[in-house]
Amino acid sequence: MISPGLLERPPMAPRDRPPAPPSSTRTGRIRVNGEEHHVALASERNLLIVLREELGLTGTKYGCGEGECGACKVLLDGVAVRACQTPVGEAVGHEVTTIEGLARGEELHPVQQAFLEAGAFQCGFCTPGMIVAVASLLRRLPEPSDDEIRAALDGNICRCGGYLRILDAVHRASRTLAASPGGG
Ligand code: FES
Ligand code: FES
Repeated sequence: MISPGLLERPPMAPRDRPPAPPSSTRTGRIRVNGEEHHVALASERNLLIVLREELGLTGTKYGCGEGECGACKVLLDGVAVRACQTPVGEAVGHEVTTIEGLARGEELHPVQQAFLEAGAFQCGFCTPGMIVAVASLLRRLPEPSDDEIRAALDGNICRCGGYLRILDAVHRASRTLAASPGGG
C-alpha cells in the first residue's frame, strides 16, 4: 500500500532544488614556461587540468590521476611535482616548467637529447614525466648512481618496461651536463 505521506509530497522539481554552492571565483596568475597566465583558482582544479585543458599544454600526460604513475610530472621551481596532485593555487608565485618548456628554441634539453640517443621510450606516454623527473634529479644530484636514479624514478611507471634504456639516458645526460659550460 502506498504511504499517505508519499502522496502528500510530490517529487522535487528541478527549480525547487536548493542552488548548488557557488564555486570559488578567486583568480590568480601562474607563470608557465616563462609566460604569465590568469587562471581561476577553484579548489577542485589541479595544475594538470589547467595545463592541459586551459593552456593547451598536452605534453604533460594524464595517466592515473591519483599520484601513482608520474606521467603528469612538471617542474615547480625546478623540482618535479605531480601536477594531478597539485592544486593550481599552489603554483601561484612559482615558476612552472612543462616538457614543452625544457627545450631552448630548436635545441633540446640535454635530458631530452639523451632519451632520444638512448632510445629510452617505446610508446612515449611516460616519457614527458620521466624527462621532467630526470631533469629535477640532475639539478639535485649531477652524477647519480644507478640506485639513486632508481629511487628518484620510483614514482614514474613505464608500462613498456624501458627502464634499462632510461638508466642509460640518465647517465648520458649527466655526462653531457657535466661537460657543458657551467655544468648545464
Ligand atoms: S597522472 Fe599524476 S601521477 Fe598519474
Ligand atoms: S615508453 Fe611506453 S609507457 Fe614508457
